[in-house]
Amino acid sequence: MTDMAPGTAARPEQPVFELLDVEKVFQVRPPGSIFSRRTVGLPALDGVRLKVRRGASVALVGESGSGKSTLLRVLLGLDEPTNGRALYNARPIGEMRRAGPAFARDVAMVYQDARGSIDPRMNVGAAIAEPLRHFGIVPPGEIPGRIAELLDRVGLSPDTALRYVSGLSGGQVRRVAIARALASEPSVLVADEAVSGLDVSTQAQLLNLLRRLQREMGLTLLFITHDLGVASYLCEEIAIMYLGRIVETGPTDAVLAAPAHPYSAALRKAAPEFSAPITEPLPGEIPSPLNLPKGCRFAGRCPRAAADCRDVDPELRSHGAGRMVACLHPLDAP
Ligand SMILES: Nc1ncnc2c1ncn2[C@@H]1O[C@H](COP(=O)(O)OP(=O)(O)O)[C@@H](O)[C@H]1O
Ligand code: SF4
Ligand SMILES: [Mg+2]
Repeated sequence: MTDMAPGTAARPEQPVFELLDVEKVFQVRPPGSIFSRRTVGLPALDGVRLKVRRGASVALVGESGSGKSTLLRVLLGLDEPTNGRALYNARPIGEMRRAGPAFARDVAMVYQDARGSIDPRMNVGAAIAEPLRHFGIVPPGEIPGRIAELLDRVGLSPDTALRYVSGLSGGQVRRVAIARALASEPSVLVADEAVSGLDVSTQAQLLNLLRRLQREMGLTLLFITHDLGVASYLCEEIAIMYLGRIVETGPTDAVLAAPAHPYSAALRKAAPEFSAPITEPLPGEIPSPLNLPKGCRFAGRCPRAAADCRDVDPELRSHGAGRMVACLHPLDAP
């Protein structure tokens, strides 16, 4: 397991990541004003609270535009929060990232566009050797052996090292991307839609691989998906996002069996068999993040909306048994 940076020795109960009321506002031109220099703030994340325990597997789920990728960028230290605090082992993520290579070594990313994330001019072996060299994981003479081990760990033969990504299938490229992410011996793996766009059987093989690696290596896994089936198969915990905020979290099985937030219930209803990814937005008008309503941001689409929902913006509160929900009138357990 990875060495910690000085001063970051983690207590077992300390979360790996903690987000405390994180806001991320992007300055954008208002719609229809392409020639104006005026910008308005778009809150991609708006009051996000999240704790990720060491060794946990967490699925971040939500429709397109709900802020999932922005949340990952904040966790990776690629975007600084505009407000609030984003912590890794109780220290600000931005500070950790700037302090040296320990953070980047410990928190590895599998990109959504696995093919695009690997230089097409490099063969697979060279692509995996890059992080091994950059972080000084093994002496130069041991690099070929380590590449073969990493390929084996993701179910690829050693001769894949001599091939180029252009000649590999979608599933093989994702395996190479996972091998490359594991090269730095991280304790945290972060993946954005890492299995989307693949046929069902390739997806199932990759999910099996990720689940096995997470358990065998004790990795903390953060997995973005718009597919509840993927979330329930791979992750013990789920965080459901809506318009820049986490609206429900808890054990995946419990949340999906009896969602407490009406939005989670609507997602669940849209994918009753756990096999259909969320491709279509749910019915009803999604407010623009540039013009959020007062009160609950889901009120315009919520079948349970009451008068107070138009006034009060619900906070994420405890809902028993490790669950949290941001709703004034949560659904009861059946
Ligand atoms: N770099 C950026 N500049 C301006 N707006 C952005 C930027 N990145 C994301 N957004 C906006 O922030 C919101 C959340 O985006 P994103 O995090 O990509 O959502 P998701 O990954 O859930 O689809 C969207 O409204 C998106 O248009
Ligand atoms: S607070 Fe009200 S409008 Fe918002 S999700 Fe709950 S019931 Fe629906
Ligand atoms: Mg995204």
